[in-house]
Amino acid sequence: MAVKALRRTWARAVDGRDARALLHLHRELWVDHDGRGGMPASEEDEVWAAYGILLDRQLAHRDGRRNPKGVFEGKLGHVVAELEGRVVGQVEAYLDRFGYHARTPSVAELRSLIVTQAARGNGLGALLVREVAEGARTRAGENTIVSAEVLARNEALSFYDRLGFRTLERISAITEPREHHGAFTTAPARVDEAMELSILDHQARVRRHAWGDPRFDPPSPAIGGDLVRLIADGIALDDAQRGTEAGRLREELIVRDRRGRARAALYLVSSVLGPPFAPVVRAEVARIAADPEDPEAVEAAMAGLDDALERVRAVGATQLLVRTAYVDPIGARVATGEGVRAFSWILAAPVQTVLRRTTKP
Ligand SMILES: CC(C)(COP(=O)(O)OP(=O)(O)OC[C@H]1O[C@@H](n2cnc3c(N)ncnc32)[C@H](O)[C@@H]1OP(=O)(O)O)[C@@H](O)C(=O)NCCC(=O)NCCS
Repeated sequence: MAVKALRRTWARAVDGRDARALLHLHRELWVDHDGRGGMPASEEDEVWAAYGILLDRQLAHRDGRRNPKGVFEGKLGHVVAELEGRVVGQVEAYLDRFGYHARTPSVAELRSLIVTQAARGNGLGALLVREVAEGARTRAGENTIVSAEVLARNEALSFYDRLGFRTLERISAITEPREHHGAFTTAPARVDEAMELSILDHQARVRRHAWGDPRFDPPSPAIGGDLVRLIADGIALDDAQRGTEAGRLREELIVRDRRGRARAALYLVSSVLGPPFAPVVRAEVARIAADPEDPEAVEAAMAGLDDALERVRAVGATQLLVRTAYVDPIGARVATGEGVRAFSWILAAPVQTVLRRTTKP
């Protein structure tokens, strides 16, 4: 693997023997994030002990073994940073690809980046991100981007800014219904509504492409049977799994106007968080398909959000996260008004950009 020495600092692939140090780092990270409006970290020592065992198990096979091929094992990357021989930072990454078009990049999603408070400002955070970028490039090629989610109340935003990241998506947290006008009905989509949904979905893909999110396939020129089948299969799968787990929702919601026309679709997901979080329900509208240029469709999207909020409250969630493209006017509309706060941003940068910015002369 690529190992970088920079004064007294060092980054390397994780080792089984790092598990104890990593447990402390994870606790520092998730307690910090909890304080910044992220998901609530557990306060129970037993939960953290259980999480420690989980980490131990995850890393056991790496015990004393350096991975010669790099920081990634399969899709998972894990790097630690040392200062004066002590593990003081870490980051994990998940390598994925959201499509099959030759030009669609691989995405290395950063997770749990932390440098312990006392060791910050030594370039270790940047070094960790650099190691992931280099490892991902080795694994998946030049056409790879690095992405990260940063809480809105986190100054780490400027850290990513310096590494060349730009904002792709916004996530807002709503706790109250959105104000909207008009009469709409919202219901979970049925398989026989797949054709209508594919029209909304196709238009959403075209918009997303025009807005410049590089992570996805370019939309096909027309709606094909493939997309309709994909959507129908998704609905059938969600139907089959409904009610199998407490707190779990996977629901394509379709919003119809007074005349029965489908004006918006929202994909709703929720689940109960496991250790090291408090056992709360995390609920998110992961995608809104509605035309922001059409005032009625925007109202339909807001009506759909109200319905989604009711559904997630019924399974125990206290807030609903809403993810939209950063430049989507619907996202801006969601983010304004009572009972809403900025939750986080999804950022991304090509590996070349990250490597250029983190290379010291
Ligand atoms: C974000 C974090 C990993 C940065 O680690 P670090 O080792 O201090 O970062 P570096 O020393 O490599 O800093 C790299 C650059 O970002 C800047 N930077 C780092 N943290 C910053 C902050 N909080 N605010 C503004 N700029 C910051 C540095 O000044 C430096 O700029 P330079 O290259 O022009 O000198 C660290 O602050 C941290 O662990 N925070 C708590 C957990 C967290 O928020 N993680 C991010 C999850 S998304």
